[in-house]
Amino acid sequence: MAERNIKPHAIIIPFCFQGHITPAINLALKLASKGFTITYIHTEFIHQLISKAQNPNSSTEIDFFAEARKSGVDIRYATISDGFPQEFDRDLNFDEFWDSMFRDFPVRVDELVGKIIQSDPSFVHFLIADTFYSWPAAIAEKYSLVNVSLWTEPATVFAIDYHLDLLKQNGHLPFEGNFEHEIDYIPGVQPISKKDLMSYLQDNDMTTTLLKIVIKGFEQVKKADFILCNTVHELESEALSTLNLKHPTYAIGPINFDTTFSKISVAKSLWSESDCTQWLNSKPPGSVLYVSFGSIAQSSKQDIGEIAKALLLTGVNFIWILRPDIAGLDETDILPDGFNDRMNDRGLILQWCNQNMVLSHESVGGFITHCGWNSVLESIWYGVPMICYPFITDQPTNRKLVVSVWKIGINLCDGEQLSTGEISQKINILMSGKTSDDLKQEMKKIRKTMHSALDMDGSSQKNFDQFLQDLKVKLY
Ligand code: UDX
Repeated sequence: MAERNIKPHAIIIPFCFQGHITPAINLALKLASKGFTITYIHTEFIHQLISKAQNPNSSTEIDFFAEARKSGVDIRYATISDGFPQEFDRDLNFDEFWDSMFRDFPVRVDELVGKIIQSDPSFVHFLIADTFYSWPAAIAEKYSLVNVSLWTEPATVFAIDYHLDLLKQNGHLPFEGNFEHEIDYIPGVQPISKKDLMSYLQDNDMTTTLLKIVIKGFEQVKKADFILCNTVHELESEALSTLNLKHPTYAIGPINFDTTFSKISVAKSLWSESDCTQWLNSKPPGSVLYVSFGSIAQSSKQDIGEIAKALLLTGVNFIWILRPDIAGLDETDILPDGFNDRMNDRGLILQWCNQNMVLSHESVGGFITHCGWNSVLESIWYGVPMICYPFITDQPTNRKLVVSVWKIGINLCDGEQLSTGEISQKINILMSGKTSDDLKQEMKKIRKTMHSALDMDGSSQKNFDQFLQDLKVKLY
């Protein structure tokens, strides 16, 4: 068939957060390694952040995929404005930023996609955009593009967001009165209590920007042709099988560990990574606790103080990632007086590191995590048991998977005020003793399942191949 000679071209637009960018870049590399042409699009803001992280002293424009192209893959690179200057504080002005992202950003995406399509009629183009965007279905419809939605969180969270209408019908969005039962009517999701739902569903406030993003995104995703999930079928089989009855859904994760393209290196980190290899090398196996709350969560000075005291009290070795904005950019001196002297060489405080490098190091024996989905996947991949301390969005639901379903982590502070006593008790449980051994046993099983999914004949590879077959049928 003549049409089959027309090459497929994916236009990939990730969401503008670290936890979404990394899987989107890896998906781009995987598709490119399978012979697809890709145009990958960052916002200019993200482009500048990554450029600066790579080379703080240079203002030269970088094409992040230039190196990748040398290995023969066809990935083009474009940027798009998010409408604000680089110095605009997008976290502090979250509502203003997202109003514009709903209103003005789609107009710019439309223009750029139109230009890309016009400039190369020799391709059959299709769209891969993050599920949280409010415009993919409209753009795909306008340009008659196959529409692929990229979901970077667990399938369980997707299944709940997909059924917001059920929550509304049952008086659980917003919650009416006190709610102490479990929600047991979401297809593919085991009974779940309110505290384990995503933060934007627990709020009881229907006007939050986070909830708006989800509502708009899920109106759009229902019109997508395909959904790609960065998860593993065997770990969330019920949610995935049930979703598949409504929508072609493919579990292709953990995409960040796919070795199909592992020799291709692309800059992804939004901040410069401090190297802590030497320090880690100096510590005994399993003795280091890694503490990090990901790329967006913000803590209070008081909670940071409680964690600091607990770290000193337990005597454990630790690496603690404290981003400059962790307690808001106005808060300086967030650590208790004398902390640095007292931690001595036992601890390392960094603003950002190469988390995969840290988790893969044999000296690391535990992880206090905010339960961002990438962090959970990375912890499992390297077999590091977790203390779960979720903040926002999907993190409480991810915690339920880690603690209650897979039993590879323990819970910290279930909505209570964080205290030095509880933190140090949980650190001791995680780093030594019977519970620690049990967690490690369970972790071995879950880890094996995850690794197997990416074997040549593993479920994620098979699902990816099936996706490509189904995509080609739709494209041609
Ligand atoms: C956000 C949401 O919080 C998360 O729940 C959702 O699933 C994705 O978007 P984020 O806070 O970025 O995620 O957490 P996470 O998903 O864990 O992603 C953080 C990424 O940053 C991880 O890939 C981690 O390896 C990386 N990281 C973190 C570093 O490379 N260095 C660090 O110092 C800290």
